[in-house]
Amino acid sequence: ETTLIKTLYQQAQHGDDQVCVLGWLKTIRTAKKLSFLEVNDGSSLKNVQVIVEKDIANYDEITKLPINSTVKVTGQVVDTPKAKQPFEIHAAELSVKGQSDSDFPLQKKRHSFEYLRTQAHLRPRTNTFYAVFKIRSLAAFAVHQFLQEHGFVYVNTPIITSSDAEGAGDMFQVTTLDLNNLPKTEAGKVDESQDFFKKETNLTVSGQLTAEAFALAFRDVYTFGPTFRAENSHTPRHAAEFWMIEPEMAFADLQAEMALSEKLLKYVVDYLMQKAPDELAFLDANVDDGLLVRLKKTSQADFAQITYTKAIELLEKADRSFDYPVKWGIDLQTEHERYLSEEVYQKPVFVTDYPKGIKAFYMRDNPDGKTVAAADLLVPRIGELIGGSQREERQAELTKKIGEFDLNPAEYQWYLDLRKYGETKHAGFGIGFERLLMYVTGMENIRDVIPFPRTPGNAEF
Ligand code: 4AD
Ligand code: MG
Repeated sequence: ETTLIKTLYQQAQHGDDQVCVLGWLKTIRTAKKLSFLEVNDGSSLKNVQVIVEKDIANYDEITKLPINSTVKVTGQVVDTPKAKQPFEIHAAELSVKGQSDSDFPLQKKRHSFEYLRTQAHLRPRTNTFYAVFKIRSLAAFAVHQFLQEHGFVYVNTPIITSSDAEGAGDMFQVTTLDLNNLPKTEAGKVDESQDFFKKETNLTVSGQLTAEAFALAFRDVYTFGPTFRAENSHTPRHAAEFWMIEPEMAFADLQAEMALSEKLLKYVVDYLMQKAPDELAFLDANVDDGLLVRLKKTSQADFAQITYTKAIELLEKADRSFDYPVKWGIDLQTEHERYLSEEVYQKPVFVTDYPKGIKAFYMRDNPDGKTVAAADLLVPRIGELIGGSQREERQAELTKKIGEFDLNPAEYQWYLDLRKYGETKHAGFGIGFERLLMYVTGMENIRDVIPFPRTPGNAEF
């Protein structure tokens, strides 16, 4: 019989109704004859103000309550159209359900995000992290909703795998062998036949290759799951464990792939502006004052599109210098990506047709022999948000690429089979879910959009 604070805020008028609210004490201010409490119950970013008068039986206990204590308030909801908050509860009864210790490590003063990372189990109780993780949940739902409404089939690709989907080698190995006492074969090599899977396995870096197997049966599919990369990157946009959304479409080319990613991104942004206005307004006011403007622009403006070659020309002509020197053939660095999206276009921009040497083996060769049909979406503040491509569907070309990239052809035989039995052009992309969240929350560090982040040297909890 408790009422949610969210429900109270949804009602235009309250008519002095009797309600019962169960929540946590956020602040308490005691005046001569009454105390003002703010209580939050998790259903809303907003608190409800509770007025407790001196004549309540346990008034002394209440005035000494440490913040975070769990309380149950029964009383009347009174509209206060002239006050800052639209209504308040006049408590008839306030019982303490769980008293907090008084040494709660988070004070009312604003803590740095860095400090709050050391309190990852308590930071969901702050307004900022409440907003971020509410948005995380809504954004995930929006992604599923958009793709399902467009006929995409959700595929759960393996988390433990024996293939390196990106051919980049940044993998966490999975083993049951005792590393201090590895079994050896007679030839002195590690005896993998004694390992659980009897072969080398790792945590997946991407579900793409196995998603392709499903796209060639279901046409339009997607994965949305955890991926792992052992890149030793100490940057604000790399995590060792992150979630990726990977749509894959049969009969689609690079243009179709880009069109879908733009639509998907716009859908998520619109969904959040509709479903999380309080959270976005809070983040705009407290974390990133350009957030709402940026989201509106993302929703309304057509994304730009240029080739990699043109991007290099723009960077070479830039009226500023870069730490990492620009020349055709380099992998674009964050500073280059941000310059293009923030300064040149001031909105998301697709960069297409990258040199083949810096992209994965499965991307389709362009007729020029130098570039591949790849498209990265670069966005302000983040840089690369999406990586996509048209896949090499020609069996002979793919076999050649596997050789050029020095990959073991036996490991990719099943992947070649997909071309052998009914090849068709197909394309897809991967969105880093946490980078998307950084973009839609204004948070500047990927560690602050992951409930319990994993980065080099950090796997707490
Ligand atoms: O560009 P990437 O490596 O592409 C792939 O993995 C393809 N298989 C995707 C596909 O075509 N199906 O990664 C895709 C996206 C990046 O654009 C970036 O947003 C994110 O994943 N990402 C990371 N996010 C956080 N931490 C990391 N270490 C990341 N590495 C990539
Ligand atoms: Mg990439």
